[in-house]
Amino acid sequence: MGATEVSIPRTTTGKIRPHQTQNEGLVFEKSAPGKKAYKLPPLDVPAVDPAKVLGDFRRTRSAELPELSEIEIIRHFTRLSTWNYAIDLGMYPLGSCTMKYNPRVNEFVARIEGLAEAHPYRPDALAQGVLEVVDLLQRCLIEITGMDTITLQPAAGAHGEFTGILLVRAWHESQGNPRKKVLIPDSAHGTNPATAAICGYAVENLKSNADGGIDLEALAAQVDEDTAALMLTNPSTLGVFENEIHKIADILHAKGALLYMDGANMNALVGKVRPGDFGVDVMHLNLHKTFSTPHGGGGPGSGPVACKKFLEPFLPVPVLVRRTSTGEQGNEGTSKQGNREQGVGSTKLGPGAGALHWDYDRPKSVGRVRAFYGNTGMFIRALAYILANGPDGLRQTTEDAVLNANYIRKKLEDLYELPYKTPSMHEVVFSDKRQAAKGVKTGDIAKRLIDYGFHPYTVSFPLIVHGALMIEPTESESREELDLFIEAMRSIAREVEETPEVVKTAPHSTRVSRLDEVTAARKPILRWRPDVVRS
Ligand SMILES: Cc1ncc(COP(=O)(O)O)c(C=O)c1O
Repeated sequence: MGATEVSIPRTTTGKIRPHQTQNEGLVFEKSAPGKKAYKLPPLDVPAVDPAKVLGDFRRTRSAELPELSEIEIIRHFTRLSTWNYAIDLGMYPLGSCTMKYNPRVNEFVARIEGLAEAHPYRPDALAQGVLEVVDLLQRCLIEITGMDTITLQPAAGAHGEFTGILLVRAWHESQGNPRKKVLIPDSAHGTNPATAAICGYAVENLKSNADGGIDLEALAAQVDEDTAALMLTNPSTLGVFENEIHKIADILHAKGALLYMDGANMNALVGKVRPGDFGVDVMHLNLHKTFSTPHGGGGPGSGPVACKKFLEPFLPVPVLVRRTSTGEQGNEGTSKQGNREQGVGSTKLGPGAGALHWDYDRPKSVGRVRAFYGNTGMFIRALAYILANGPDGLRQTTEDAVLNANYIRKKLEDLYELPYKTPSMHEVVFSDKRQAAKGVKTGDIAKRLIDYGFHPYTVSFPLIVHGALMIEPTESESREELDLFIEAMRSIAREVEETPEVVKTAPHSTRVSRLDEVTAARKPILRWRPDVVRS
């Protein structure tokens, strides 16, 4: 329990799911000398003297690893696993992260032996099946984005941005001048300015207008011959679609600058509009957001980069190409030798049209951005999702994601301040303005949500909204689950009025109560040391 004794109002909401509260020591604390989770048979080969084999590299002190029995290890980690929140437990409304359900069909397909066990060193001729999967995903993503060609190599959204801006730089260099700056709106995801800076560009901030969009006049005044690109998230982190995007593209192109679209929020556009049709030159996708592959705790993500044909020579190596009877066919539909045009999705592509292979002979390429070809397991899952939904299913998914966000907006806008009244797409951003008058901040409300059985929404982002509550329900949620979330948020708003201390000291139902986040961030203790006593 926290400092304030509170009871959770069980009657006000149907969604009370107390956090697991077992206590659990560290494995090191449970350790006892001599305990083992294995038993080896007696040695049946000649013994080796480690000192002779390893010399000075021989360990002279014990590794101080915990010693436990098998059942103790299993129980320890199983108990810990129950303390995690997951999309498989309930709604995960973490705005901007698109924590949608990962359908089990994806996992089923990814575990098919021939795909799961394909080794990256397998010769192309013996890997045609998995290469067809990669090729089909590439063609699906090209079709969905309306771009000309693609690389699947980057391992995350931010990594995709990095790759995309490397393409921009390489193209400008090929024109004789890499240019100096990248424009970034104040509503951008933090990875955008970081990307521009790491690619050697100066970052110039672009102020949003009152609707949360780009101010065209301000843009026209800021773009010049030093501008390499504008990095634009569309829909933005405010959940707002940039209606004048084609005009934005025209303004940039008139000065020789490129339009980079952060396509991490494509879950609001798939099946509706295509960035390639509204002037975007290069963009990335987050397969782990839009196409339902697991986010994986910073693990195997995938951030493909799609671009227009003029950027194709700069794509990372290797590039997947198909050997046809008249030459080599890349994704962009141009034969290397025969220069034969084949549209994306053409019946001439796909199995039977010629063998696929990785092409390393690309003199203008920006080089590799990752080992091998990217996270193939994620490609398989994303393709399974795309094929299982089909074009109509994908469009429906987009509509449901937008509908869910707007349902929440409508049901909460009387209690929570809506700083931008522009129509919402896949997420809705409120501010804590009204609750702050009672001394309750967005972070307090988010922590109180945990007591109601929900993962918190995104707190204090985007930065242009002071005290932001950024809520993205995704299409995964049923009306019933949305209603429970709305009920919880309404109940918390009432608590702010009547018993603000309850909210300010939340969470109350978790194993540990309010943590000292500043100390945790500034002085983290990341590994066990026998000399550090836990308080
Ligand atoms: C708009 C936007 N851009 C970029 C990213 C970065 O993607 P990643 O976390 O995969 O690096 C995200 C992640 O959520 C995002 O929401």
